[in-house]
Amino acid sequence: EELELGGHAHFMHKEIHEQPESVERMLSGRLDDRFGTAKLDGLNLDPRELRRFSRVKILGCGSAYYVGQLGASMIEDLARVPADAEPASEFRYRNPIIEPSTLYVVVSQSGETADTLFAVREVQRKGGTVVGLVNAVGSSIAREVDGGIYLHAGPEVAVASTKALTHMSVGFALLALALGRVRDLSFADGKRIIAGLRAIPEQIAQVLAGEEDLASAAKELAEAPSLFFIGRVRGYPVAREGAQKFKEITYRHAEAYPTSELKHGPLALISPELPTVAIMPADDLLERNITAAQEIRARGGAVVAITHPGVELGDAATRRIEVPRNEVELDPILLTIPTQLLGYHAAVALGEDVDRPRNLAKSVTVE
Ligand code: AGP
Repeated sequence: EELELGGHAHFMHKEIHEQPESVERMLSGRLDDRFGTAKLDGLNLDPRELRRFSRVKILGCGSAYYVGQLGASMIEDLARVPADAEPASEFRYRNPIIEPSTLYVVVSQSGETADTLFAVREVQRKGGTVVGLVNAVGSSIAREVDGGIYLHAGPEVAVASTKALTHMSVGFALLALALGRVRDLSFADGKRIIAGLRAIPEQIAQVLAGEEDLASAAKELAEAPSLFFIGRVRGYPVAREGAQKFKEITYRHAEAYPTSELKHGPLALISPELPTVAIMPADDLLERNITAAQEIRARGGAVVAITHPGVELGDAATRRIEVPRNEVELDPILLTIPTQLLGYHAAVALGEDVDRPRNLAKSVTVE
């Protein structure tokens, strides 16, 4: 095991640090500069078939579902096709209406999650088309779907998923690009997204270079019995995943809220004892995010802002963590990286068993 850890203290740490290289590998051969699109032969859908879907439904569990939410917004942004994500564990129990004009997309690291596999069968039984974003080659889901995109993240050992989730969001960007380019996404925009995707490996490495600072922020957050993660629109799935990672391995209560919902209730909980991690990218929602952070600060709450270089936050943040800017549609991929290290270092500071958190299994194959 020591050998496999390659000098890292935990598999989770190793897997976080593998991301620049693994994402580069995943992208290789899949970016089509000639047509400004993604080459996804494994989907088994030619452009005309891809064009036929008027809706996309994404299904996954846990963190895979949160990435699915991000994927839905990428698909709506780039392809302008209505898209949404739902926990596969809920979908399978509610007698879902399956439409032939909807593309169903399941997303799974292990390819063995029982709820997700059942969702695949339910869609197929009712005549729907389902493709998969799957990491484990030859897994049950990979074998049963009608086509898909392998994530090529390599084996993931830590129960708390990191690199596989990043690969899922890159996979959704590729799918959104392919869906967009058979509709109204221009060649120029396709090239813009391709350039953004190419920049991601190096930009992840830049975020990881700030690990020391993230570790010190994590240590402070670990002292709080409870904390919030907030984000708006594209930042909300980032906040959800950040809270999920934190609670899985630190056993602290971490709750995600859309920033816009704070004033509708949770603001009542803000106090010096409850810090907030706020996703605050340089986008058209920044001013609103700053106002919300100021409301938290006015009630004595600390705000750790995950933001972009050059963003003026003034006294709205007690601490800032910067990630490089990419294209606005792809920014959430990079905004998620610091939350991996926040969860990891908080768990280390608390002396928890990072790779094997209590009560959790790497792959949930039971119903
Ligand atoms: C992630 O850190 C979790 N351990 C968990 O939510 C996981 O993402 C979920 O169980 C889905 O697993 P899968 O990707 O293997 O289907």
